[in-house]
Amino acid sequence: MRKELKVLGIAGSPRRGGNTDRLLGEVMRGAASRGAKVKTIILNNLTIAPCQHCDGCLETGRCKVEDDMQMVHSELGRADRLVLASPIYFMGVTAQVKAMIDRCQALWVRKYLLKLPLSGSSWGERRGLFVSVGATKSANLFQPAVTMVKSLFRALDITYAGELLFPGVDEKGAIAKYPDALHQAFLAGQKLVEGTPAE
Ligand SMILES: Cc1cc2nc3c(=O)[nH]c(=O)nc-3n(C[C@H](O)[C@H](O)[C@H](O)COP(=O)(O)O)c2cc1C
Repeated sequence: MRKELKVLGIAGSPRRGGNTDRLLGEVMRGAASRGAKVKTIILNNLTIAPCQHCDGCLETGRCKVEDDMQMVHSELGRADRLVLASPIYFMGVTAQVKAMIDRCQALWVRKYLLKLPLSGSSWGERRGLFVSVGATKSANLFQPAVTMVKSLFRALDITYAGELLFPGVDEKGAIAKYPDALHQAFLAGQKLVEGTPAE
């Protein structure tokens, strides 16, 4: 029997129903339309303390700070595909996303120091997408965030398989006026789960 492919969406904006939220929703809808099992985590609803650099993870690969990040680690381990969405805040990702990324240090330890497997995915290569918007059209608007997300994906053994980046989008819901953006997001969700080998 073929197992369901699990797609994890991570909503990094505090603005519910905002631009990245709507794009993420379309990506997940596209993935679901191809039979994937989708789940979205809303970071702003969770308690995720910043990394304390206590080095508590060095021996076990487990974070000693007890909060909602334990659940996020489990979801990241289970996911076959990842879709991370964050608007640009001061040329980077939101504080919610940065806190989550830094708390993935325990997973970095598992991979690079302890050489432990990160995922039980039975779908081979794990792949991920980055979804972002920013209000301005400044040069290199997305570059720092993309660099950060690529670094996270590498630590999680997730191939950076693509991005949806829309400059010049500010007001809540303005993405709906961006030519074709939501449709592109839907198609990106379909593509993310296509070409997956049968079990
Ligand atoms: C704290 C804060 C910082 C921001 N910094 C930037 C920035 O550096 N560059 C930019 O183009 N837009 C910036 N923006 C605008 C947001 O990226 C923009 O409004 C975006 O559409 C919000 O996406 P959302 O609806 O998914 O939350 C900032 C907004 C806030 C609230």
